[in-house]
Amino acid sequence: MKALVLSGGAGTRLRPITHTSAKQLVPVANKAVLFYGLESIAAAGITDVGVVVGDTAEEIREAVGDGSKFGLDITYIPQERPLGLAHAVLIARDYLGEDDFVMYLGDNFIVGGITDLVEEFRRTRPAAQILLTHVSDPRAFGVAELGPSGQVIGLEEKPERPKSDLALVGVYLFTPVIHEAVRAVRPSWRGELEITHAIQHLIDAEAEVRSTVIGGYWKDTGNVADMLEVNRTVLEGVERRIDGEVDAGSETVGRVVVEEGARVVNSRVVGPVVIGSGTEVRDSYVGPFTSIAENCRIVDSEVEFSILLRDSSIEGVGRIEHSLIGRHVRVTTAPSVPSAHRLVLGDHSKVQIHT
Ligand code: G1P
Repeated sequence: MKALVLSGGAGTRLRPITHTSAKQLVPVANKAVLFYGLESIAAAGITDVGVVVGDTAEEIREAVGDGSKFGLDITYIPQERPLGLAHAVLIARDYLGEDDFVMYLGDNFIVGGITDLVEEFRRTRPAAQILLTHVSDPRAFGVAELGPSGQVIGLEEKPERPKSDLALVGVYLFTPVIHEAVRAVRPSWRGELEITHAIQHLIDAEAEVRSTVIGGYWKDTGNVADMLEVNRTVLEGVERRIDGEVDAGSETVGRVVVEEGARVVNSRVVGPVVIGSGTEVRDSYVGPFTSIAENCRIVDSEVEFSILLRDSSIEGVGRIEHSLIGRHVRVTTAPSVPSAHRLVLGDHSKVQIHT
């Protein structure tokens, strides 16, 4: 069995972070979202992984390499444009050969991994197995309609009037019959070849399509609110570990990770929090559900429920919450006169100022 991991896409809802970085590489608890997926594929006993890449190919290759650090053997499959999930399967045809495979969307986050699911699929081998979960707004997803005995009757991609609240999770298991189905679909209104339509094609042909409704936690990390929620969930599971320096004037409470080479000086850190190596927290408060990457500076400020990417600093600005801050960002005080905000913001930045 192989895996096909999709790591292309523009990530428009995570702009401006995604102007300079692949959405799959935005860190959660200081580790790229994509790495959690690759680790759960390895844990399920799969080693051959095709990674479909687009405009951000170089960055993904740089971060993931040949896969050996995950115990995987990775082959990169370039997709010239984001033409859809079924298109990704089309271009991976030669790589996948006659193997069964799991398709995993690189920006999806599933707590609990996929091991049980892969085992069940190996045992039962339906044409396709999909994962579903209850969501509050199904219109943003592929949506399944189930029959009385739980069989999949129909699937629709981002329907205006959803027939259920069961969304397709971005992990799919397929036997090679999917290759014929992806050749049969035509572009949707958004100009993409939808995997949802290819699976519908299997249903129409009376092939067996099974579904599993997952109770566990799942998020498509496409936007900032979801990213912060995933960060919260992952941080809830971290174990306290202080490898860096915490001075006598500081207090760390609960699940706090201070990596080696990080310094906490005259500050209060209330977990769950992770602080990356090379980062300094001075005269500050860092509150629950905050991930601070490497080589940052938090001085004379308060940060809570936020993600900071590496090499950024926050100095003297009071309290920051619910924020996603990119790399090499400077948030500092303005001179006292004139009393004004001074902003240098990249394209598609969002700033909410408390007045
Ligand atoms: C894709 C699928 C959709 C599925 C979703 C899960 O949507 O088309 O059916 O529910 O992933 O993340 P997209 O991310 O392309 O909008």
